[in-house]
Amino acid sequence: MKLKVLVVAGDGIGPEVTAEASRILRSVAELGGYEFEFREALIGGAAIKAQGTPLPQATLDGALESDAVLLGAVGGNEFNSLPPDKRPEAGLLQIRQALGGFANLRPAFAHPALAANSPLKPEVIDGADILFVRELLGGLYFGEPRQWDREAGSAWNTMRYTRDEVIRVARVAFELAQKRRKKLTSVDKANVLEVSQLWRATVTEVAKDYPDVTLDHQYVDAMSMHLMNTPRSYDVVLTENLFGDILSDESAVITGSLGMLPSATIGGQVNLYEPVHGSAPDIAGKGLANPLGAILTAAMLLRHSGNLEQDAAAIETAVRKVLEQGYRTADLARSEKDKKMVLSTQEMGKQVHETLNEIIDRRQAMHAV
Ligand code: IPM
Ligand code: MN
Repeated sequence: MKLKVLVVAGDGIGPEVTAEASRILRSVAELGGYEFEFREALIGGAAIKAQGTPLPQATLDGALESDAVLLGAVGGNEFNSLPPDKRPEAGLLQIRQALGGFANLRPAFAHPALAANSPLKPEVIDGADILFVRELLGGLYFGEPRQWDREAGSAWNTMRYTRDEVIRVARVAFELAQKRRKKLTSVDKANVLEVSQLWRATVTEVAKDYPDVTLDHQYVDAMSMHLMNTPRSYDVVLTENLFGDILSDESAVITGSLGMLPSATIGGQVNLYEPVHGSAPDIAGKGLANPLGAILTAAMLLRHSGNLEQDAAAIETAVRKVLEQGYRTADLARSEKDKKMVLSTQEMGKQVHETLNEIIDRRQAMHAV
């Protein structure tokens, strides 16, 4: 098994969390006898500072030559006054578009060990396990025309989807639902927006090919409430780009911290893996960041780009065990008991690494018998 991984750490806490995710991947490679090759490249604010552009050509070329791209985070306060196309975020949007992945998978899983971390009642989140499928290359993020006409004091963006764009992402979501609990909730704003009416009609049509999956539709405003009231009633949630951006951050309330959320973007030339959290400049470089979102992202990389399901699951088990043993990063430490178990970013990475090694060793010993 060979895998070429490009690590684009980016800004803020990006380098700290991708270092821990890479450590885990290296260890999986070593234990499994796989050949993973790692390269590094610049993106976002780091690339603007070094080369004057948020997505240098070398990064793009390196990404297109890789089997998978592991990204940390982009953005920083010093760039806040720049126009959208000059900001670090532009680099992220450009690499997403160039790699072509249109289905962004964002699982939100309520770890029992973190139940007390959510402001929601334990009985509300207990067993919640949602997979958001966020369309990543359309809608307001990419629609033209877009402009801020300062003289006229007017600005506009365009929410646009074609039927084909909806069909392709809907198929990914239905196929994933077939492998899970066979429920799909499609989120839109079809009571107001034409683009949502197209979305709803198209998803309804695609559903005919998946008779074993139960489809329902929700308006995004109602959905944002239902998610908090009854998170357990959702399995796969399919939605357009901006709604998915918003709802996936909201789902951090279910998991206890934004730092826990991984993502994988599939369907294009090269898959792109990034934790859902941002660059968190306020805590960058202090060892306070939670690397578990990035580590769980590495598990998704093994699952979707390496077809290494067993190793992906082993990472997820290692994370669960470490949490069960009471280890926390600062964002996860609520109670006095938690606060005594706080680890730095690196220490948490090492803890998962050791636990993972034990799991894989045990698995290999069993196979050797
Ligand atoms: C995310 C982020 C990005 C997005 C930003 C950084 C451009 O919020 O991945 O959720 O809006 O897609
Ligand atoms: Mn976001």
